Amino acid sequence: MRILHFSDIHIGLGLRQIPVADWLGKRLAGGFNLLRGRSHHFADAARKTLAIVDLDRELEPDLVLCTGDLTALATHAEFEAARELLDPLSDDPRFVVTPGNHDVYTRPTVREGRFQQYFEQATRTDLPDLRTDGAWPLVRLPAEDVAVVAVNSARNNLLPWRSSGRIPGVQVDGLEAALRDPRVAGRFVFLMTHYAPCRADGSPDTKEHGLRNVDEFLAAASSIDRGALLCGHVHDVFRQRIDDFSGEVFCAGSATYEGREGVWVFDRGASGTWSARRGRWTGEGYELDAEASPVAGQETAAGKRAGS
Ligand SMILES: [Fe+2]
Ligand SMILES: [Fe+2]
Repeated sequence: MRILHFSDIHIGLGLRQIPVADWLGKRLAGGFNLLRGRSHHFADAARKTLAIVDLDRELEPDLVLCTGDLTALATHAEFEAARELLDPLSDDPRFVVTPGNHDVYTRPTVREGRFQQYFEQATRTDLPDLRTDGAWPLVRLPAEDVAVVAVNSARNNLLPWRSSGRIPGVQVDGLEAALRDPRVAGRFVFLMTHYAPCRADGSPDTKEHGLRNVDEFLAAASSIDRGALLCGHVHDVFRQRIDDFSGEVFCAGSATYEGREGVWVFDRGASGTWSARRGRWTGEGYELDAEASPVAGQETAAGKRAGS
């Protein structure tokens, strides 16, 4: 079994293509921000997104997971472009996506449920009875001993310089219940959300940029025996161990940010052990590192079970 994980493609269409009526408050600030220098980091985002679709074709993974920030300002035009670039993945049953803060950039986008309208298929769950907050938590059961569980940590920040996230309490409770549910418990869990629980060096993110209730989130995930936490938002590709999670954290950073591009690919070996490989942008396409290494935490879990 194989899983491809990417994040933060940030498809932006430039300021001229945003309708004048959309130029209100936050979006104006966001637009200026982009003008001031953010957008050039993502200048080649479309080509790199097409390369992810090529990589999917080449690797034929069983699932493709995206941890949000598909757009820059959550406009209809950006969502349409993101869907088109990802085609045919956008409506592929193997595709799972959770929104990032840029996908819920303004209050109207949240009110409209715009993200879900564009990615209805990719936010589908196998266990609807476990949802506590709209589509979340989302659960996919792609194989007997594997589960993908996703929560939405993105929210609309009223102040343009703030980009912090919070998982609503009902979802945190839902996550805890979903992970303990007999249909999910005991499987290898890929827990996915937009916000990273730490930065590349393992230190906590800042209050203005990070996940505000990261402790609650990790406490809800404490029943995971074997698993990996997949995220984005921090535009660095990294893997890290943290004290409050039994598995390993994989941040896919941004697949399109100039000079920092990356993706993760997970493979389950014959012994049932999961390994991870990083994918790198070559200038022409994505290429996987030759060496794969085991996802950390699997042996401790086995040891814990044997010792108990
Ligand atoms: Fe991002
Ligand atoms: Fe983000």
